[in-house]
Amino acid sequence: MTRYARTPLRLLVAFVFLFTSAACTAARPGKTAIASADPLATAAGYEVLEEGGNAFDAAVAVAAALGVVEPAASGFGGGGFFLLYRADEEEYRFVDAREVAPAAAGRNMYIDGNGQPLPGGSVDGPLAAGIPGEPAGMVYLAENYGTLPLSRLLQPAIELAENGYRIEARSLMGLRFRKQTLEKSAAFAEVFYPDGQVPENGALIAQPDLAATLKRFAAGGFDGFYKGETARLLVDGVRAAGGIWSMEDLANYRVVEREPSVTNFSGMRVITAPPPSSGGVALTQMFNLLSGYPFAELEGAQRKHYMVEAMRRAYRDRAIYLGDPDFVAIPLSMLLSRDYMAGQRVSVRGDRATPSSVLDGIDTDGSEGTQTTHFSVMDADGNRVAATLTINTWYGAGFMPPGTGVVLNNEMDDFSIKRGLPNEYELIGDEANSIAPGKRPLSSMSPTFLESDRGIAIVGTPGGSRIITMVLQAAIEWLEGGTGEDMVSMKRFHHQYLPDEIRYEPGAISDTEIAELEAMGHTLKPSRRPFGNMNVVTWDFASGKVEAATDPRGRAEGRVY
Ligand code: DON
Repeated sequence: MTRYARTPLRLLVAFVFLFTSAACTAARPGKTAIASADPLATAAGYEVLEEGGNAFDAAVAVAAALGVVEPAASGFGGGGFFLLYRADEEEYRFVDAREVAPAAAGRNMYIDGNGQPLPGGSVDGPLAAGIPGEPAGMVYLAENYGTLPLSRLLQPAIELAENGYRIEARSLMGLRFRKQTLEKSAAFAEVFYPDGQVPENGALIAQPDLAATLKRFAAGGFDGFYKGETARLLVDGVRAAGGIWSMEDLANYRVVEREPSVTNFSGMRVITAPPPSSGGVALTQMFNLLSGYPFAELEGAQRKHYMVEAMRRAYRDRAIYLGDPDFVAIPLSMLLSRDYMAGQRVSVRGDRATPSSVLDGIDTDGSEGTQTTHFSVMDADGNRVAATLTINTWYGAGFMPPGTGVVLNNEMDDFSIKRGLPNEYELIGDEANSIAPGKRPLSSMSPTFLESDRGIAIVGTPGGSRIITMVLQAAIEWLEGGTGEDMVSMKRFHHQYLPDEIRYEPGAISDTEIAELEAMGHTLKPSRRPFGNMNVVTWDFASGKVEAATDPRGRAEGRVY
């Protein structure tokens, strides 16, 4: 990790930036950059940029292509968040295209007569699926921010669905891992298990039903997906397999545009996701707690200890207070205030872990995911998009309504289906995140812009509950002089209040630090699976350099022109 604040030369450069930054932020980058999880999706974005489209057009094209070539992660049966910056207006927007619970959903829908969770209820099959938001998000972006017609933006995705794409290792891993569940959906199996088997690496996967669905979407916009033939096929397929969607659920879906969350740390501005994401609140809380220490001077186990204590407290509050802001009153002025975190800091000891069990919380009875997708886009005018999109776990609900080609999400599992019961990401929750008709499940997705005198970074990653702490570590890396490549490739660690342990990628914490942290009372567990798949675009004001950095953990490709 490079220490930005410590190097005299860097200090001098920072000083010069202070006097030039106003002019720089107003300037155009003059180059375009896209960092997405798949080269075909990046190419789809470039296709529309080359035709004169802006970053918002490119975002729709990239999202649509990802829905075809990265079907384990996101798509038309899912939802997500788009963080936007409009350079002309110098305006930040947050487009919330998160799924909502169907009207027939109820708070105890996944609990049996004995108060026990129904096995797999909120994870497998159509009952686990919320009403998709991503297609509506695409329409909203195209109509309000883009310059090209939706039909043009969907064209690369339609061609990829029609002509097929070569399936790769990450998607195959999911097909192997969840075969027993996924093959129960005949329409899904027809596409992804030809001859009943997991395809070979590089096999051509064509999705004719999805191509037809996308053509109806391209022709009809919102109504071409949420009403008419596609809606009928979706609802019939869901209901025939035991789900509870209705035509009204689809027709009533609405995107919500919200004010992004903004916080500052050591001269860096962090613009990110507000509720129903927990990202903005948790990042603000963690930075506020850390701002009480001479953070730049901390290193090794001491620095990690304070970061973990910040994570622990932010995730505790996440579990207690956060949910859909349109349904619950979140005490934001308390949670976001510096004084509140100063109060929390009093309980942090410098030499000792605070056991999560001694913090007021939620009683608990008490897997990792590597899906979801994030991409970052900037156009030559400086318009930006950070988008994190998901169908939740690998291939979502593992269910495809016949005739649609659409893989449904299992975002209902992001609700707290029972007080204190850990979900797929071992997150717990309470009343604020209980199920209600039309409500959005609490998310960790945190598409983020970092801004300072040094420049701009567009950041985000999949990773379930770990998304927020990954963004935290990437932001600190960037603050201290790291490049986009450093941010995507750095090893990561995580704590989420419960379970009360530090999970880490081998290499993220040295053996000496492990010993020191253990001596302070922390429990550490190495993670078998890598954390996340981060994609970052950076613009350095001094050099004018625009870079696209993609995570070595994935097969991503970033491009700059
Ligand atoms: O919205 C959320 O927080 C989750 N549904 C995101 C899932 C995710 O990142 C899966 N990747 N591991």
